[in-house]
Amino acid sequence: MEKNPKHQSTEGIINDDKVIIVNKLYKSFGDNDVLKGFNLDLKKGENLVVLGKSGSGKSVLIKCMVGLLYPDDGEVAVLGKNIPKLDQDELDHLRVRIGFLFQSSALYDSMTVRENLEFPLRRHWISKSKEEVNELVMEALKNVGLEDAVDKMPSELSGGMRKRIGLARTLILKPEIMLYDEPTTGLDPITSREISKLIVEIQHTYQTSSIIITHDMACAKIVANRMIILVDGICYAIGTYNDLEQSKDPKIRPFFE
Ligand SMILES: Nc1ncnc2c1ncn2[C@@H]1O[C@H](COP(=O)(O)OP(=O)(O)O)[C@@H](O)[C@H]1O
Ligand SMILES: [Mg+2]
Repeated sequence: MEKNPKHQSTEGIINDDKVIIVNKLYKSFGDNDVLKGFNLDLKKGENLVVLGKSGSGKSVLIKCMVGLLYPDDGEVAVLGKNIPKLDQDELDHLRVRIGFLFQSSALYDSMTVRENLEFPLRRHWISKSKEEVNELVMEALKNVGLEDAVDKMPSELSGGMRKRIGLARTLILKPEIMLYDEPTTGLDPITSREISKLIVEIQHTYQTSSIIITHDMACAKIVANRMIILVDGICYAIGTYNDLEQSKDPKIRPFFE
């Protein structure tokens, strides 16, 4: 385990390509200093978990990665592009390559599952024949284990199923990077476990590189190739689940108790 690393580099999972680099990121809201020189590297093919207390800036961090928030200072490079420097057009193009599962990833309640999944294709002006669209919809549903739900309404589905459909809607664009913001929050332990396993399956099926923000340690244990602990606005510690679990550091211990 490295503590508060200035620059991280460990063995790559597939290779040493870095698909996201966050370097000395600062973000405040008024006098609330949230990120205070945060560093992170996401390597190609890995699942990187970011742990942090509620309100520590985890959502702010991933919003900076997709250009939903503008950093005060520092570098946020995603797939080789410097996010804060992109214009709206360039940002839209890049966002097609990034899947974002929001904390409350709401489905459109008045649309069927199929219509919900078709929505990202239309929004990004991706023109396909009816047959091709159907194939993409069914492929995405198959990969989250819910082909049978294609004609259902969201209200007919359980919380775990809605989470899966939200994920399928993101996967339909075949993202290179997945950003999960608290994917298991609000789910019971058994469903949380299923979603965690699904995140690992998606890593392999879609060859994604992913950041998973969570404070669910059971989820972290299942999905993480590496973990980062965000404390006081910085990357306080980095290592595997097992590395960090053995730490006696009083700022790390509470996550494992
Ligand atoms: N758009 C915003 N305007 C003002 N304050 C914000 C905004 N977004 C987040 N914050 C503040 O930043 C801090 C970190 O928030 P957040 O990243 O959502 O925490 P979490 O780690 O729980 O995801 C909190 O104090 C929150 O109130
Ligand atoms: Mg959050």
